[in-house]
Amino acid sequence: MAANIIRTQVGIVGAGPAGLLLSQLLHLEGIESVVVETQTRKHVEERNRAGVLEQGTVDLLKAAGAGDRMRREGLVHHGIELLFNRRAHRIDLHELTGGRAITVYAQHEVVKDLIRVRIDAGGQILFEVGDVCLTGLDSGAPSILFQHAGDAREVVCDYIAGCDGFRGISRPSIPACVLRFYEHVYPFAWLGILAEAEPASQELIYANHESGFALLSMRSPSVSRLYLQCRPEEDLSLWPDERIWEELRRRFTTDEGFHLNEGPLVQKSVTAMRSFVTEPMQYGRLYLAGDAAHIVPPTGAKGMNLAVADVRILARALAWRYRTGSSDLLASYSDTCLRRVWRTQHFSWWMTSLLHRAAGDDEFSYRRQLAELDQVTTSRAAAATLAENYTGLPFDFPGEQP
Ligand code: APR
Ligand code: PHB
Repeated sequence: MAANIIRTQVGIVGAGPAGLLLSQLLHLEGIESVVVETQTRKHVEERNRAGVLEQGTVDLLKAAGAGDRMRREGLVHHGIELLFNRRAHRIDLHELTGGRAITVYAQHEVVKDLIRVRIDAGGQILFEVGDVCLTGLDSGAPSILFQHAGDAREVVCDYIAGCDGFRGISRPSIPACVLRFYEHVYPFAWLGILAEAEPASQELIYANHESGFALLSMRSPSVSRLYLQCRPEEDLSLWPDERIWEELRRRFTTDEGFHLNEGPLVQKSVTAMRSFVTEPMQYGRLYLAGDAAHIVPPTGAKGMNLAVADVRILARALAWRYRTGSSDLLASYSDTCLRRVWRTQHFSWWMTSLLHRAAGDDEFSYRRQLAELDQVTTSRAAAATLAENYTGLPFDFPGEQP
């Protein structure tokens, strides 16, 4: 075989949480894979994204042998706070779900751990590839063509996993006539900051304030991660640090005198908000997973967790194919994923609608939001629904084959 051709079982496009975890899960099933990534290792290991892991994600990362540092450094939370009408209300996730919790551990730390685990296991990850192109998707031997270190290379494989995010080439490699897209773009965005300040709360605080949403999260006992609702076209140059703190102070004001800890900002950015679903999530020998197939607004903290759920289903389907010769689970991959994708889309839309104020929203909508927040924080059934979704839906729905 020519030197520039790599033969493997599964070619994976993208070294984000989806691609890397899939490669590790396949490895544990004795299945070979090669990951190609356009960015440098440093870039993917430092890319600041969200940081809340569902119980199932935590359990799967541990089972995949990538949980040691998360176990040591992750912050396990048994509750979250909802703040509205100048009062904070705790949702006891642990009690309402019979013992489930979330873990605050940044996505890029998960990526770092997975790259370490793959390399220690002799896994192949090619960083800084270019001109990636997929061929033979509806043949028995699909391949990934790309440039690497100045050479034209090719990964020839049985299956391709498109884990290259929303702006990758996998989804656009599927004939447009095959795909249906569902999209909802929100009329607001998040201005996010990373501050060297001790988090002012032990747990995350989601605030609905009449001037808009705000979120207090954290990265460590000394680093806070905060967000406030802004306009999609917000100009960051008009937001000097003091103006950001002033607005955050306003939105986190409580009658109990809650006080934010402030400190130097090390990062600030504006994140657009959309809901997006691609159907189906497969075409021929190509299977889409994670952001390549769907996007959720960050309010429900579901982006990475949904990517993890996809690759768990894909790894099982590929293992079943190689072990038994049956393509049954591969054939139903898209339908199996989409049930969870749409449940998660609903929850993320619901959290977003509950906590944000759209420009032009009238007083009736605001008062209705406050009434719904009152229900969620006083009705056990409503709080349990939030807690069940927030800590993560079961990987296998009732009636589904485990
Ligand atoms: N070829 C190879 N790699 C690519 C290409 C390409 N043409 N295009 C993009 N990539 C890489 C990106 O550089 C990125 O490292 O694919 C990777 C996709 O990773 P993510 O965007 O993190 O997507 P995913 O693994 O599905 O994880 C979803 O990421 O964006 C967050 O909020 C999102 O939490 C969610 C999670
Ligand atoms: C974060 O910590 O970045 C974070 C937490 C919860 C969210 C979104 C982002 O809903």
